[in-house]
Amino acid sequence: MRSSAMRDMMAITARPEIISLAGGLPDTSTFPVSAFTEEMARIASGKVPEVLQYGPTEGSELVREQITRVMKAEDMLVDVADVTVTTGGQQAIDLITKVLIDPGDVLICDAPTYPGALPTFYSYEADIIQIECDADGMRMDILESTIASLAEQGRKPKFIYSVPTFQNPGGVTLSLERRKRLVQIARENEILIVEDNPYGLLRYEGETLPTLYALDGGAYVVYLGTFSKILSAGLRIGWVVAPPPIREKVVLGKGASDLCTSTLTQDFAGHYFDKGHWREYVEDLIGIYRNRRDAMTGAMSEYFPHGATWNKPEGGLFIWATMPDVLDTSDMLAKAIGKGVAFVPGTSAYVDGRGASSMRLNFSGVREDEIIEGIRRIGAVAREQLDLYETMTGSQEMKLPPLDADGNPERPS
Ligand SMILES: Cc1ncc(COP(=O)(O)O)c(C=O)c1O
Repeated sequence: MRSSAMRDMMAITARPEIISLAGGLPDTSTFPVSAFTEEMARIASGKVPEVLQYGPTEGSELVREQITRVMKAEDMLVDVADVTVTTGGQQAIDLITKVLIDPGDVLICDAPTYPGALPTFYSYEADIIQIECDADGMRMDILESTIASLAEQGRKPKFIYSVPTFQNPGGVTLSLERRKRLVQIARENEILIVEDNPYGLLRYEGETLPTLYALDGGAYVVYLGTFSKILSAGLRIGWVVAPPPIREKVVLGKGASDLCTSTLTQDFAGHYFDKGHWREYVEDLIGIYRNRRDAMTGAMSEYFPHGATWNKPEGGLFIWATMPDVLDTSDMLAKAIGKGVAFVPGTSAYVDGRGASSMRLNFSGVREDEIIEGIRRIGAVAREQLDLYETMTGSQEMKLPPLDADGNPERPS
């Protein structure tokens, strides 16, 4: 059992004086109070005994139906019978790993990968192989050569776990060409893909791409979803869509873990989606998060040191930034927390210590003014560390611009 860097930081980042760019928190303050009150009043006025009771392990019929409708919005046609409701997308990752992995089995994932998945993979003693991602997502040439060299050793991955759309943590999206190739590789080699897609509906610009599930039709792709980022993380509702032999084991695994997902929150979510207004709320979120993303990239251009790089994702909640390679973001984090800002160091997204100069930055959880201030503080820490490096090594490599009266880097006018 290992801890997750993000969970360890939750207590620190919950302190009000800290601007947390570390979590993956949706902005729940934007959820319409009237919609919340309406659902709660409906439950209180007649369904209390029902929602205080256990429910079926695979989830309530209504929520499962609504899940198929939400998936239809991303062009996926799903049979209600193939849907298992889970306690958040996190339990979906846990259950699929529990069902498929025996100790020592190979599992392939993105490099970097979702930091919250790694403790799950470790807990089932998977042999984790990470495949490098570039701006178009997971590199298919490296994936193919890895599968081939594993085959030479008589080994075959149990599954390929990927967040192909607006990846957590890298923000990158797997290109259409690579999506098609990935599904083809899975079929040719008879390897399952586990597609984790919490962010697909949060697109701020660019063209929508088909999910791996839509391309494959569900034969080789097991699909994981969640309502955390389009409704609420606190309701803890996610799901797995898998063909019958896997689904049956997932339900057995879930029964062993927690018997069923909360009947109360399933009732809330089932009726909320049934009313059909959820798309409007997602549209609101898209507008808010797009502005926050732009605020973050704008502040990075202003405050991050020369040599730092970052991407501008077309959707999702995260930006991946890389500092000049003499900087270690784990060292920077301690200083950053001292200055009242937090981020996730890049190493937590790798199994082998890579990512030491990188960081994951979340732009959904705090307001634009806080994002700008948070980035300014991280920029100040980077600057101090670079100054120290230059003093100690006599290097002028970074050629930092002089500071203005406010302690910020001077920009050419
Ligand atoms: C890629 C990915 N999968 C799964 C989860 C888990 O989400 P939840 O358990 O809240 O549904 C997250 C949360 O940030 C995530 O980014």
